[in-house]
Amino acid sequence: MSEFPAADELLSIAVPIAREAAATARRMRAEAITDVSTKSTLTDVVTEADRAVERQVVEALRAARPADGVLGEEYGESSSGAVRWILDPIDGTVNYLYGIPAYAVSLAAEADGMVVAGVVINAATGDEWTATRGGGARRAGRRLRCSSRTDLSQVLLGTGFGYDAKRRAHQGAVVAQLITRVRDIRRIGAASLDLCSVGEGVLDAYFEKGLNPWDHAAGGLVATEAGAIVRGLDGAPPSLDMVVAAPPAIFGPLQDLLVELDAAGGA
Ligand code: IPD
Repeated sequence: MSEFPAADELLSIAVPIAREAAATARRMRAEAITDVSTKSTLTDVVTEADRAVERQVVEALRAARPADGVLGEEYGESSSGAVRWILDPIDGTVNYLYGIPAYAVSLAAEADGMVVAGVVINAATGDEWTATRGGGARRAGRRLRCSSRTDLSQVLLGTGFGYDAKRRAHQGAVVAQLITRVRDIRRIGAASLDLCSVGEGVLDAYFEKGLNPWDHAAGGLVATEAGAIVRGLDGAPPSLDMVVAAPPAIFGPLQDLLVELDAAGGA
C-alpha cells in the first residue's frame, strides 16, 4: 500500500477548509468597507486578510493532518511531510483591494512532489473548481473539458503581469506583439482563476512568467484534468520562468510564438 493518502481523501479535507477560508476573506473585506476608520489603508486590509486566511487554513490543516507540510504565500514553508499543501490565501489581491469579484482561495495537495488534489474558490462569487490527479476536474459536480479550438488566431488568451516594473515592461512588449496574433487578450488578475477558466473553456489558453507554486498548483491541476497541457517552455515543468496552459492543438503553436517573442525573457 502507498504511504500517500488517496487524492480523493486529500480533496475532501481541502474543500471544507477552502470554503471556510473563502468565507473569512469575504467577511474581512465586507467589515473593512464598513469600518475603514479603524484601518490605516485599504492595502493594510488586504495584507491583514491574506495573513488571517493563511493562518486559519494552516491551523485547520494542522488539526486534520498534523504531519503534513504547508507552503503558503504569506508565511512560506512550514515543516515537511509526505504531503505538502500549497496555499494562496487570496489570489487576486489587487481585485480584492478594489472589489473586483475575481479573487480566490487556492489550495492544492502535493504527494511525492506531484500535485494530486486541488480546489480553487472564487471568494467573491462562491464558484468552486476541484480536481484530483487522474480523477478529472469539476465545477459544481459538472465534469470540465477545456476548449477544443485548434486555430491560434481564434484563441482568447489570458495572461498576467508581475509586480516588478522592469518585468512588466517586458511583459507589456510581449503582449503588444501577441495581440495581433490571437482573437484577444484577457487579464483577469488571479492566476488560479485564469487556469480554472482554461479548464472550463472560458479562456482558450493562458500563459504567464513569474508565477509561484501557490498561484498555479491547484488551478494547474484543474486545467490539466480538463484536458489542457500545463507546462513551461521546451518541455520544462511549470515554474517561475513560464506557465503555459492550452488545449493540445494550441499548445505547440502558442509555445513557438512565446519562444519567438522571448516571453520568458526580460527581468
Ligand atoms: C497574482 C495574481 C495575478 C498574477 C500575478 C500574481 P496575488 O497573485 O495571480 O493575476 O498576474 O503574477 O502574483 O499576488 O494576487 O496572490
